[in-house]
Formats: sequence, C-alpha cells, structure tokens
Amino acid sequence: MKHLLKMLDLSTEEIIDILNLADQLKYELKHGIPHTHLKGKTLGMIFQKASTRTRVSFETGMYQLGGYPLFLSSNDLQIGRGEPVQDTARVLSRYLDGIMIRTFEQKEVEDLAEYGSIPIINGLTDFCHPCQVLADLMTIREFKGTFEGLKMCFIGDGNNMANSLIVGCLKVGMAVSIACPDDYQPPKEILDFANQYDCFTMTNSPMEASKDADVLITDVWASMGQEGEAEKRKTAFAGYQINDELMAVAKSDAMVLHCLPAHREEEITAKVFEAHANEIFEEAENRLHAQKAVMVKLMAD
Ligand code: CP
Ligand code: NVA
Repeated sequence: MKHLLKMLDLSTEEIIDILNLADQLKYELKHGIPHTHLKGKTLGMIFQKASTRTRVSFETGMYQLGGYPLFLSSNDLQIGRGEPVQDTARVLSRYLDGIMIRTFEQKEVEDLAEYGSIPIINGLTDFCHPCQVLADLMTIREFKGTFEGLKMCFIGDGNNMANSLIVGCLKVGMAVSIACPDDYQPPKEILDFANQYDCFTMTNSPMEASKDADVLITDVWASMGQEGEAEKRKTAFAGYQINDELMAVAKSDAMVLHCLPAHREEEITAKVFEAHANEIFEEAENRLHAQKAVMVKLMAD
C-alpha cells in the first residue's frame, strides 16, 4: 500500500491490517504507551474545504506519533491561484514525508499521487471519504465484535460517504443495503463494484433497506460544495431520515453511525441521534486512531 486514495484500491487484508493497528494504537494511547513511529516526519495537510474532525485528528495524531503536521489552507497556497497540482506534487514531495488532502475532485488526489513521490492520503473528495469509513469499520467491529453476519444499511444521498461505505463494508464481508432517491444514486463505478456481490441491494425505500439492519448510517442531504442545491435537496430527500419508524424494523440491537456534522430532524431525528450518541462519538474518536494507523502504514521507515 503506497497511498490511501479510495477504498476501491484496498484489499480486504490491507483494511483488516489497518484496523488491527488502529486498535493497538488506541490501546497504547489509553495506557500511556508511547508510539513515536513517525519521529522526525512531516505531514502536509491541504484543505480546500472546511473541517473539524479531519483537521484536528490528523494534526493531533501526527503529533502523538512524534511527527510534525503542517496545515496548508488552499487559500494561502499557490494551488488556490491556479498552480497545477502536478507541480505542487513534485515540489511538496521534496519537503514533506506525506500529504493529506481534502478537496473536490478525486482526480486531483490521484494526480498528486501520480506526480509526487510521497504517500498521499485522501481526507475527503466529492467521490469518497476513505479515512471516515476506516473509522466507521473500526467502530462497528468494536461494538459488534465481528463483521461476520452483519448488515449495514445506508440511508440518503449516494455521495462520498455512501460510496466508501458500500465498498468498505462489502470488502470486509458485511451485507449492504442502501436506500436513496432515484436521482441520487451512487456513481456507476461504485454500483459496478457492488453488483458483483449477492449481498448488495439498492432501493428507494428506506423502510425496505433498514429491515433487519445491524448498523444504520446516514449523512447530510447537501454535502460541502452543494450548498446552492440545499432547498431542492430538502424536497428530494424528505423521508430519507433515520427515525423511530426505521429503527423499529432494524434489529433491536442495531447501532447508528453518522460521520458528522449532523443536521437534526433532516437526515436523522434528534431522538435517534442522542440515543446512539455513544456510538457516534466513539466513531468520531476513532478517526484519530484509524488515521494514525494509516500514517504509520504509509510513512514509517
Ligand atoms: N466527518 C468529517 O470528515 O468531519 P470534518 O468535515 O469535520 O472533518
Ligand atoms: N458528505 C459530507 C461529508 C462530510 C464529512 C460532505 O462531503 O460534506
């Protein structure tokens, strides 16, 4: 594994290896066992979109690993004034040991990896959010003890979160059902991958998708960059909400995850959110541990 660009690139074995290391790093952190695997290394973090969790967890994680994180807002970089990503990649590769990038187009991340000579980590694009889904898988295994026999149901937009969840959950052996409006399905590349699995189903009925689910997951109706479509999306996604009615058809011990930020009473009711806050905030914490594992796998000597 040279980069983390998208879940589609990872083998099942690589995913499990990352999760095992993440569990170990979490244990070590809680028990005060130092793990300075990245002593003297520098991670550049390029942000073209806002972030709370991704920024703080990468920055803190790098510090805990003995390395140095550099926050690079695209507003301040020449990339924000049109310097090609191909040149940025070749320059930054001469200073840094790794780059985390959050941006719009997946191609920009893939280009950084192609033209640079250091590990690239995707911290969210319009296409996918692999760091989040590694934390989600870590949380599911932490609460359920296994992936075997579990069904993950995603309700809402066929967006970056849906794309990475579909691929990640299928790769670790879970059944996957998704419910999204007909005009907001995941892209063909994801559906082509998912349709190879008999345990994948897609519907426009949230009720049907949630039946017997062990894990219910949703995400905002309008993602970053889609603010102008917010009103139109509110209409299109009405009914695509995790609420008591959906929880009633899922397994009685079903867990609920949300990558955050959440919009209460839109994609999830405040009641369901608060009832599952322990899972949702453990998931947020696990961003730290999962990303530290990714950085160690990619950047340690
Ligand atoms: N879930 C997530 O990526 O959060 P941020 O946008 O705050 O980084
Ligand atoms: N789908 C959301 C996820 C935020 C972490 C977005 O792209 O804005």
